[in-house]
Amino acid sequence: MEKAQLHLEGRTYELDVVIGTEGEKALDISKLRDQTGYITVDVGYKNTGSTYSQITFIDGEQGILRYRGYPIEQLAEFSTYLEVAYLLIYGELPTRAQLEDFEERIKARTLIHEDIKKFFDGFPSSAHPMGVLASVVCSLSSFYPESLDPYAPDEVVERNIIRLLAKVPTLIAWIYKKRMGHPYIYPRNERSYVNNFLYMMFGMPTYDYEPDPHVVDALDKLLILHADHEQNCSTSTVRTVGSSRANIYASVSAGICALWGPLHGGANQEVIEMLEMIKADGGNVQKWVEKAKDKNDPFRLMGFGHRVYKNFDPRAKIIKQAADQVLNALGIHDPVLDIAKKLEEVALSDPYFIERRLYPNVDFYSGIIYRAIGIPVEMFTVMFAFGRLAGWLAQWWEMRRANEPIVRPRQVYMGPGLRDYVPIAKRG
Ligand code: CMC
Repeated sequence: MEKAQLHLEGRTYELDVVIGTEGEKALDISKLRDQTGYITVDVGYKNTGSTYSQITFIDGEQGILRYRGYPIEQLAEFSTYLEVAYLLIYGELPTRAQLEDFEERIKARTLIHEDIKKFFDGFPSSAHPMGVLASVVCSLSSFYPESLDPYAPDEVVERNIIRLLAKVPTLIAWIYKKRMGHPYIYPRNERSYVNNFLYMMFGMPTYDYEPDPHVVDALDKLLILHADHEQNCSTSTVRTVGSSRANIYASVSAGICALWGPLHGGANQEVIEMLEMIKADGGNVQKWVEKAKDKNDPFRLMGFGHRVYKNFDPRAKIIKQAADQVLNALGIHDPVLDIAKKLEEVALSDPYFIERRLYPNVDFYSGIIYRAIGIPVEMFTVMFAFGRLAGWLAQWWEMRRANEPIVRPRQVYMGPGLRDYVPIAKRG
């Protein structure tokens, strides 16, 4: 095994060099503190690998994304979300019989406990869908106490994974119904997974509803593209929470909260709001690009930039094409898509964005598709959570099966040195 040498305070230490399947290089510092008394500092974990994972590979320089070795382009074109979920969770593509069995097990659990309806009653209809989803997903743990056992056998973990895949679409559709003041629509399990979700979202008890097949396909593709993205903020959160042996519902709920932020999944809502704002302001794209470059202005181009991708985000490429396809198929002309394309063109020829290697990310065009299929802007991030669920579950299970230790970073303390307490009477 190759070693790296560290020279510190007149001594030389050897660190193991770790090489990943795709040639990714790392230094193993796990014994560093014991050997040297030093820790490493890496705020925001920009250079820190938190685990060894077999699920997703990203090469940010070359714009490569693969799930279990399969290129995202092939999966997005030929697979379905549930097949991809199976792949992420179990590590291999299913046979036809395995996939049918997986789908049947999910279908058998799409209903949610009737008492959960009362939770929905308690939220104001203006509640942000991410807050509601996080709360209700966490509360599912109280309906399935077997999930609380940190040493439960695989079959119990698997059952709860299936439950989450089955129930989250129903919960999301019901969050929408509550917002709209419409009656809840129960799942119809003769429908496919994505068709069923759209049926629960947009169906009504007063008429038959059949979603447009273009919409079903577009949504399936979006879910696949969002399904996993290795150790991003929300996935790391899911693994971190799970590392304390917290249950899977609590861990996924924490992931939903992490995803909510505008620098992560919340960016898809922010992108459409930004594009609308630019449109309302007269569509002067250059003006907003200048604002994004101005360090005294907090405005950033939402949907631009990525911690890992430095040439292009392969998901954004596929989504941009899909946005054109679905809007054409539905006969929609969305002026916001024109603004988005113009913004991309102006930004990508600007030295500020070129030098910093800032490109459109997955969130830049996804909202345009969501909007075309009738999903309100406040629900965009919930749709991201819907797709990411498969990845969170796969990553949580991988972490548990590897019996990873509790996540507990260290810090470098920079606060005041020791000082004596002064009673309040003497403090003035
Ligand atoms: N607009 C303008 N400037 C930007 C942007 C942007 N969207 N993104 C990064 N920069 C600048 C930033 O100011 C910094 O400049 P300087 O070196 O002069 O200080 C430089 O580029 C590096 O940025 P950073 O914030 O240090 O990079 P990061 O890796 O910490 O952040 C990011 C990555 C995605 C949070 C950031 O690019 C960003 O805030 N983008 C907008 C929000 C967004 O679209 N988020 C969705 C990410 S993709 C979906 C997901 O997986 O979550």
